[in-house]
Amino acid sequence: MPRTLRAQLVAVLVLLTAAITLLVGASSLIALERQLTAQLEQQLTAAITRSTPGIGSPDDSRHPDQDDDGPSFLGLRGQAEGTLGAQITDQGVVESGVIGSLSRTLPLTGAQQQLLLALPADGRSHEVHLGGDLGEYLVRAVEDPRGGRAVIGLPTTGIARTLAHQAGNVVWVALIAVLLAVVAGSVLIRLALRPLRRVAATARRVAELPLERGDVTLHERLPDRDADPRTEVGQVGGAINRMLDHIDAALAVRTASEARMRRFVADASHELRTPLASVRGYAELTRRQNGDVPEPIRQAMSRVEAESLRMTGLVEDLLLLARLDESPQAAALRHEEVDLSAALIDCVNDARLLGPDHHWSLDLPPEPVATLGDDARLRQVLTNLLTNARVHTPAGTRVRAALRRRSGQVVVEVSDDGPGIAPQLQPAVFDRFARGDTSRSRAAGSTGLGLAIVASVAQAHGGRVELDSEPGRTMIRVVLPEAR
Ligand SMILES: Nc1ncnc2c1ncn2[C@@H]1O[C@H](COP(=O)(O)OP(=O)(O)OP(=O)(O)O)[C@@H](O)[C@H]1O
Ligand SMILES: [Mg+2]
Repeated sequence: MPRTLRAQLVAVLVLLTAAITLLVGASSLIALERQLTAQLEQQLTAAITRSTPGIGSPDDSRHPDQDDDGPSFLGLRGQAEGTLGAQITDQGVVESGVIGSLSRTLPLTGAQQQLLLALPADGRSHEVHLGGDLGEYLVRAVEDPRGGRAVIGLPTTGIARTLAHQAGNVVWVALIAVLLAVVAGSVLIRLALRPLRRVAATARRVAELPLERGDVTLHERLPDRDADPRTEVGQVGGAINRMLDHIDAALAVRTASEARMRRFVADASHELRTPLASVRGYAELTRRQNGDVPEPIRQAMSRVEAESLRMTGLVEDLLLLARLDESPQAAALRHEEVDLSAALIDCVNDARLLGPDHHWSLDLPPEPVATLGDDARLRQVLTNLLTNARVHTPAGTRVRAALRRRSGQVVVEVSDDGPGIAPQLQPAVFDRFARGDTSRSRAAGSTGLGLAIVASVAQAHGGRVELDSEPGRTMIRVVLPEAR
């Protein structure tokens, strides 16, 4: 069975059309056959009536050019070509013949005579198959008043021919009807299913919309003619429109709540900066009151200072992420040419100073490589990657920072031969607050925002990040568009 509704409907239409035409054709053929047989019966009765005076009588009323070998009644006027006659007495068939063309009487064979001999003289018509050139005949035997009986018959071949011709016509009509059904059915069904295709196309377009993130409004709706509740497709269309309204409203609520959340985080981070700066300032001031402050308090103050510094970094990171979520404008990202080669040299030099126990190497192309964007944020990306390679790996690890160009893109790679990122952490490593729970990470005061910032900044610059890590080989790649 075909799959599409259209093909199924056309198939059903074709089958129905063929069945109906054949049924009508068959019943008309049966009616025609009955009518023709009744006509032949009448003609046979007429032939018998015509023959009655000649049955058993001597050959005095013969047609002039009649041969000698047929029964005399065949020669009577009005007998049609093809009429069969036989005169039967106690001795068997004494005379028999068929009127051929040009009114010549042709003889019957012995076998044919035997067939006629077997017929009862019951005055009813019988169909006999005479074989040879004669074929099927409708014959009737009548009593001869002078003893014996006469058999008179007419050929049924005319009926068979007419029926065959009519059957041929029926087949032709059926074929034409089926052809019409296919053509008209396909066109009509295609037209009738057009609204359904429009509904499907709209649903497909909605399905392809990126609804999972950002500020999305669903503008797709079906036009009124496809949402008419009086039609089946219209009911589907109407339901889809209502569903889209619903989703649109839900998305608007979600977007608004996300925006509120982002603004809250941004505001909170922003508000925290000032008190944190004060805490740091007072702690520093207290620590510097040399002689007056007891040693334990100075130590406590220097811890307060260090922790507030760390918290300031955390708050800055949160603020940056919240603003990047909002838009590149909200994050106040600059859009200028940034010399990535120079930035990478600076960052690796800083890393060398901070991590003298690691082996640092730098791989740069001879000519400077540049991208468009915000110098400070891109340096933050490089620093985050180099810091990870420093703090999440043991001393002696080799770290390689490489920069290259690849078909209109700039690729920055930071790789190390350290222990690698745990496989269960890898799928979420760019998420916020995702960090490995190793003692090294905890000791490094890690918060799990570093790679989230790398990913967000790369995205805000129209780039992406890739990770490839296994024990002994960890590589994080940032791909950015090249400045031309
Ligand atoms: N080069 C690396 N080698 C091994 N593990 C790594 C490496 N880089 C990152 N990781 C793992 O991925 C986690 C997430 O890194 P991410 O930079 O996002 O956060 P963090 O370094 O823990 O904290 P933050 O960078 O905010 O101080 C880390 O905690 C660490 O477990
Ligand atoms: Mg980090």
